[in-house]
Amino acid sequence: MASGKGSNLKVILKAIARGECAAQVEVVICNKADAKALNIAKDAGVPQVLFINPKDYEDREAYDIACAEVIQSAGCVLIVLAGYMRILSKAFIQAFPDQIINIHPSLLPAFKGADAVGEALKAGVKVSGCTVHYVTLELDSGEVLEQASVPILAGDTWHSLHQRIQEKEHSIYPSVIHRLITKV
Ligand code: GRF
Repeated sequence: MASGKGSNLKVILKAIARGECAAQVEVVICNKADAKALNIAKDAGVPQVLFINPKDYEDREAYDIACAEVIQSAGCVLIVLAGYMRILSKAFIQAFPDQIINIHPSLLPAFKGADAVGEALKAGVKVSGCTVHYVTLELDSGEVLEQASVPILAGDTWHSLHQRIQEKEHSIYPSVIHRLITKV
């Protein structure tokens, strides 16, 4: 599930194509019509590439039920959030225990929330990074599966720091997915 530029989706699809990640992406769901992730998924030949419009649903629960139906009927065993900028309903999270993972641009539990990169810069810390974690009811608080750190350098801007963090995201996310998919 993605909302934006889809660079994590892209590296996951590439790792699968290279045989480095033993997953298959059956469905990509976007909540934004202009998400680049949609084109990335189509170009890679993902079987179902869907823009599901939140405006077509009465509330968050109804939207998430529609997403869950697609995911379940495709037989997915893992839900990978890759820049999915939408809070998931309690019922959705509870329907997929230990099956939803997310990547967050900080070393959790530091800097939870929507602007982890900006918060790290504001706090003046010297190290940040990214975290792959299970999604649970409490935001950005599920079990940590993997982390990677990056230095914060003098003169860093939001973009320079985010770019450095994303390089690490791209190296850890496909390997965590491989690990989970191949876990007996
Ligand atoms: C990443 O920085 C991730 O940590 C955050 O959203 C961003 C998604 O980037 N959750 P992309 O769309 O995969 O390029």
